[in-house]
Amino acid sequence: MKTIAHVSDIHFGRVIPDVAEGLLRSLAAMKPDLVVVSGDLTQRARNGQYRAAGAYLKRIPFRKIVVPGNHDVPLYDVTRRFLRPLARYHRYITDDMAPFYQDDEIAVLGINTARSLTFKNGRISLSQAELIRDRFSAVPDNVFKVLVTHHPFLPPPGKKRMPLVGRAETVLRMVESCRLDLLLSGHFHMSYAGGSHSVYRSLARSVLVVQAGTATSSRIRKEANAFNQILIDPARVTLKVNNWNGGGFGVERIEHYTYNSQGGWDLPAVGFVAGPDGALDRKEPGR
Ligand SMILES: [Fe+2]
Ligand SMILES: [Fe+2]
Repeated sequence: MKTIAHVSDIHFGRVIPDVAEGLLRSLAAMKPDLVVVSGDLTQRARNGQYRAAGAYLKRIPFRKIVVPGNHDVPLYDVTRRFLRPLARYHRYITDDMAPFYQDDEIAVLGINTARSLTFKNGRISLSQAELIRDRFSAVPDNVFKVLVTHHPFLPPPGKKRMPLVGRAETVLRMVESCRLDLLLSGHFHMSYAGGSHSVYRSLARSVLVVQAGTATSSRIRKEANAFNQILIDPARVTLKVNNWNGGGFGVERIEHYTYNSQGGWDLPAVGFVAGPDGALDRKEPGR
């Protein structure tokens, strides 16, 4: 079994210092095999914000897959936005725009969906779709395949009009032959999960989609700061949503997803929420 810590939207420039330190403590205790950081590392892509984000990521002593988000492209500096949109990302974070990790159990690829031509939304290019297919086609079938983007493939529950990553269905169809298992994204600052079939009905096989909230920033949307712990079995995925409770992160919700013989993911039978005394109470899943 492998453990991925899924951290998103850390937004240096709007970081809550106590929460950022709490996240480091939680990750140190969790000892994940891999930390996925799904974009929006900064608030406005400024030098100081990037410097702080880079220094913070260096304090996470685990293997990482990092992708940029729309906030990591300068918004008001038009010259930089169009000529060198991710120069500071390259300088302070990484040059690798398609980070890839593979072992005997999991293969994880990150791609950049942030674009200079749009302020908020993102998309996947056809050449990136080919890259996804090429990378994962070379991975054995029994290895669990994870794609990381900043922009989401699935809207939050009950909010079907929220803009998703551009070209999503085309890309998912293009890469169907390589049997993706899991999509990890951020951007909406909301924690939820579901199967790709709820949106992309033309796909032969459902892909599990997991969204992370904002881990460390004050840009919360009616939800606490959060990050995901994902345990991969690989026919069974356990998602533990960890919420900030004022003094540290604790498990707020646990969901189990089982891969079924029809080629899709069963939705969770039941979710749990941690009560004030740490007891787990039954709760409607996915909410
Ligand atoms: Fe964000
Ligand atoms: Fe974003």
